[in-house]
This record gives sequence, C-alpha cells and structure tokens, in this order.
Amino acid sequence: MEDAGTHDACSPDLLYLKSSFLAMEPADYFISLARQSDGGSITERVQTFILEHCINSIEDKGTACNLTYMKNILKKVITAAESTHDVVVEGLYEQLAYYLTSHMDDDLLIEKNRIYRQISFLCSSGHDDKCLNSMNLVVPLQCSLNMLEGDTGCALWPSSLFLSELILSYPMTFSNKFCFEVGSGVGLVGVILKHVGASKVILSDGDMSTLENMKLNLELNHLASETMASQRICENPNMVECKHLPWESASESELQTYHPDIVLGADIIYDPLYVPHLIRVLSVLLRPLKFCSSERKAGDLSCYRCTRTTEDMNGDNSPNEAKEAPNAYIAAVIRNMETFNYFLKLAAEASLSVLDVTATMKPKNLLPYMLSYDRSSVHLYQVSFSCI
Ligand SMILES: C[S@@+](CC[C@H](N)C(=O)[O-])C[C@H]1O[C@@H](n2cnc3c(N)ncnc32)[C@H](O)[C@@H]1O
Repeated sequence: MEDAGTHDACSPDLLYLKSSFLAMEPADYFISLARQSDGGSITERVQTFILEHCINSIEDKGTACNLTYMKNILKKVITAAESTHDVVVEGLYEQLAYYLTSHMDDDLLIEKNRIYRQISFLCSSGHDDKCLNSMNLVVPLQCSLNMLEGDTGCALWPSSLFLSELILSYPMTFSNKFCFEVGSGVGLVGVILKHVGASKVILSDGDMSTLENMKLNLELNHLASETMASQRICENPNMVECKHLPWESASESELQTYHPDIVLGADIIYDPLYVPHLIRVLSVLLRPLKFCSSERKAGDLSCYRCTRTTEDMNGDNSPNEAKEAPNAYIAAVIRNMETFNYFLKLAAEASLSVLDVTATMKPKNLLPYMLSYDRSSVHLYQVSFSCI
C-alpha cells in the first residue's frame, strides 16, 4: 500500500485515467474515460499522457496477463483516435508493435491466469477545491483473470470495494478495533483495516488457494501475514493473521476464543448450502462476552440470554466486561432473493438482528474512475446479537 501520492494533482480526469489503467479496468471503460478527458475525442495530449503515464509506467512488462491488457488498450486507443481523425502519437504504434512481436507464450498466459491490479482510493486533499481527488492510497493486488472459473476467492468483488470505501469513510469506527473478516478473498479489506489503524486484523477463508493468494497480497502491501498464535500478532503492528476457516467445519470452541469487536464480510451470501454454516459462524463470533448459557440446549443458539447489566451500559465495569457487543458489517450484492431471504430467516432463528444500513452508512465515492464498479448494487447490513 502506498500513501498520499499525487499524480497530476490538479487534473482529476487524467488522474482517473491513470487509476483506471492501474486497476486494469475493462478497456472500453478506459476508452470512455480517455474520451471524457478532452471533450469527446482522444486528443494528442491525452494519447501522450496514456503513453507516458500509463503504458510506459509499468515496470514489469513481462507479466503475461498485463501484457495482453496492454496490447488491448493500445489497439483500442489507436483505433479510437483514428476513428475521429486525430493524429496518432508515434510512440503508441511503436509500443503496440513491441507488444505484438514479443514472444510471450500463450500457454503461460492461460496457466498463470493472474493479473496485478492497483486499486487507487482517491480522496480530497481538503486544502484546495480545485485539487479534489488528489490524495491517493494505492493497493496492489494479485487477482485471478477469470472470476467465474473456480477462482471466486482470487477475484475482487464489488462488495469488498464497498467495504473498503466504508472503512476509509468512517475510519474511527474501525481504528483500534479487533476486526475479523470471513470469506476474505484477495484480502483488500484487511489492507484497508490496517491502513486506518485497526488494532488487530484476522482474515479468513475456506479455500486454500485463496488463502495463499491473500498472503501474497499482504506481502505486496508490506504487511506480514501470520497463521500462528494470535499472541505474535500483537507484537508486530503490521501483522495480519490469515486463517483457514471453512464455515462448515469451524469449531465452536475455536470461534469462541476470538471475541472480535467487528466482524466483516463481503459478497459471502450466495450459496444456500453454506448459509446455515455462515449463520453459525456469525452467531458465535457476535455473541457478547457476558452471556449466560445456562438455559441453552445443545445446538440451540436461540435460547441464549444477553445479561448486560446497567453497570455495563454505564461503563462502570472493568474494561473487559464493559466491552461493547460486537457488530458485523456485511456488504452484499443480492443476486438471488431466495438465498438472501433464507439468510434472513436463519439469522432470525439464531437471534441475530439484520439491519439494512445502506441508506444511513453511505461510504464516500473514493473510486470515481472505476466505471465497472456499481456502488448502488451493493447493500450494507449491520448484524448483531439481539438481546432477548
Ligand atoms: C464471492 S467471494 C468474495 C471474496 C471477497 N470477500 C470479495 O468481496 O472480494 C466469496 C468468498 O467466500 C469464500 N467462501 C465461500 N464459501 C465458504 C465457506 N464455506 N467457508 C469459508 N469461506 C468460504 C470464498 O472462498 C471466497 O473467497
């Protein structure tokens, strides 16, 4: 993760263009932004910017999939400029010729199936209205090329972009908190949580190859990943724990040891088979510290009793006892209403309250250049244990 970079601080359009290129936005969206930058056509000025600040800025030109992307962008920029009879900057032809003749093995391309994206979160510097969106947080991530080919955890989904914007928009909610994410995928949310000063971050996923990719992404962001005892994590402020945590086999006794302040999840409610297991994991992670389990029958989460006392509410107890009940923030794109209703039904049965806070906890638009990301498709739910 890189901080506070300013490229072309006073030209948001060009900053968007570069950010779109680094995030490997689909070529057609990149071309739309390029057109917007100079009133409709891809002028010589914009072409020169693309050549110097996008194409020539990539150091690792040998990365197979990035190379394909580069070829695609160059072809589309040249075609778009030619179609409006704009002069095409010579360097663009030269670069295209270079990429077309470089002998990158197509088999390697298919085998690697990984791309490096850099996600820039753009914020106002706050000093000068003309310099909006000049402050940068850039998060490099290795992602899979195709999210639908058994690699769901290695792709970047809109809900984790949403959660990242949310965390950056409300940093005080997450700073100095112990945050636990389920179904973390590429690990973006963990990087952002560390950026805002979360005291402890545990990322988890049920898929081993996703976990390996997540650890690599933490390294790319100068964060150390650790799978060992959580004691070590406290010693290193840059440490993020990565846990193999399949919901269906996560043991209650293990989950009970964590006591996070905040649980997070992005795009995790989609497979009805796993919804009951996810609910069980959330129930245990969200159970307040002071709970009387005397009335509980085996396996029946609904008969737990919240025993927070007046002293707890007034904060008169010891710090541990006065700890606020944990909350979960779950961001979701609802693709199948039946699956989501099933989630709500099981949540209610497990005494979890699920509040739609999309309208009240709106994140800032920190990814204005990312035309492929539809923020309005994402809902935010606050989940907590309801005291009976
Ligand atoms: C759609 S992806 C979302 C990834 C990431 N949160 C994001 O939004 O970019 C769903 C994630 O949940 C994980 N997952 C799915 N089923 C799971 C299960 N039963 N136990 C643990 N993780 C699971 C997948 O491996 C994947 O990383």
